[in-house]
Amino acid sequence: MHHGLTLPTPAAAAPLSLPPGLAEFVDLGHDSDTFGPDVLRGLSATPKAIPAKYFYDAIGSRLFDRICQLPEYYPTRTEMQILKAHRAEIARLIGPDACLVEFGCGSLAKVRQLVEAMPRLGGLVAVDISRDHLLDAATALAEDYPRLPVAAVCADFTRPLSLPGIAQQRRRVGFFPGSTIGNFEPDEARSFLRTVADDLGPQGALLIGVDLVKDRETLERAYNDRDGLTAAFNLNLLSRINRDLCGSFEPRFFRHHAFWNEDASRIEMHLISRRRQRVHLAGRSVLFDEGEAVHTENSYKYTVEGFHRLAGEAGFRPAQTWTDSQRLFSLHFLTVG
Ligand code: AVJ
Repeated sequence: MHHGLTLPTPAAAAPLSLPPGLAEFVDLGHDSDTFGPDVLRGLSATPKAIPAKYFYDAIGSRLFDRICQLPEYYPTRTEMQILKAHRAEIARLIGPDACLVEFGCGSLAKVRQLVEAMPRLGGLVAVDISRDHLLDAATALAEDYPRLPVAAVCADFTRPLSLPGIAQQRRRVGFFPGSTIGNFEPDEARSFLRTVADDLGPQGALLIGVDLVKDRETLERAYNDRDGLTAAFNLNLLSRINRDLCGSFEPRFFRHHAFWNEDASRIEMHLISRRRQRVHLAGRSVLFDEGEAVHTENSYKYTVEGFHRLAGEAGFRPAQTWTDSQRLFSLHFLTVG
C-alpha cells in the first residue's frame, strides 16, 4: 500500500506531513480561486447568475448545517431516516472489504451510519474541495475508527479523480448523499454520473440521495423557512463577495426569492434587487435595475422513474431504491454497467 503525500507538481510540495491517522492524503490542486472570474462573468451575463457552489464559505457552511435542522427542510432528516432504516440491506449490497468513496463529503456525518453498519468495510476515501474541512473531518473519522483505513482527496469531485491506494484493489462504492446532484443541470448530472462510473470502475456501485418531486407547498416551504435561515444563506453570497472581492454590496438592498418552477422541475433561488443600484466589486461596477434578479441556485427534483432514466443514460443500473413513507426523498443503489 502506498503511504504518502501526493501533490500536483514536485515544485508545489509544501513541508506538510501526513495528518495523524490518515492512510493517505492526495491533493489534486483543484482548489484554485475561480470565485472572482466566475462572479464577474455571472454578473455581466443576462440574466445575472452566480454558481451555487460558492454558497459554502465558512459562514455559508454553518448556515447550511442549521438549515438541515429546520423542521421545514425535510431532505437531510428524511435521508438519514432512510439510511438508518435500511443500513443492514445497504451493507449487504456493498459487501465486505469494499472501499467507500464519498464525493463532496463535508463533515462525513452521514457516512458514519454506513461505517457503523459495516464492520468489514475495507476503506473510506473522503473527497472534498475544501482542504481544511476535509482534513478535520477525515482525521476525526480516522480517530473514531482506528482499524478503518481512511484517505482524504482534496479535489473538485466533478472532475475525474485519481483515487488513492486504499481504493485500488477493492470494489469501489461511491456515496453521494444530500441530493447535491440536484444542483447540476440534468445534462451536467448525466456527465457527472458518467465520470463517477469511470472513477468507480466496472465492479463499482453508487449510493446516491435524490430529492423527489412533490407538492409546491412542501417544496416552497423548505426554501422559505420562517426563521429566515435560507434567506441569510442566499444573501451571505453578497457578504462573501464584499469580503473576498472588495465588493460594495448592501445585502439589505436585496431580498431572497425562492420558488418551485414546475415546468423545469426545480426550485430556483434568486436575489432580487430592491432598487436600482450600482455595486462595485473586483475593481469593476455592475448596475442592477429595481426588481432585477441574480439567479443563485437551481435544485432539481426528480421522480424515481426520471432519475432511473438519467442514471441509465450515464451507465448505471438501478439495483435498489428506498423512499420514506411520505415519498419525500429517495436513496438509490446503482451498479456500474
Ligand atoms: C445542498 C444542494 C442539496 O438544494 O436543497 C438548501 C442546498 N439551498 N437550501 C438543496 C440548499 C437552499 C441544498 N443542496
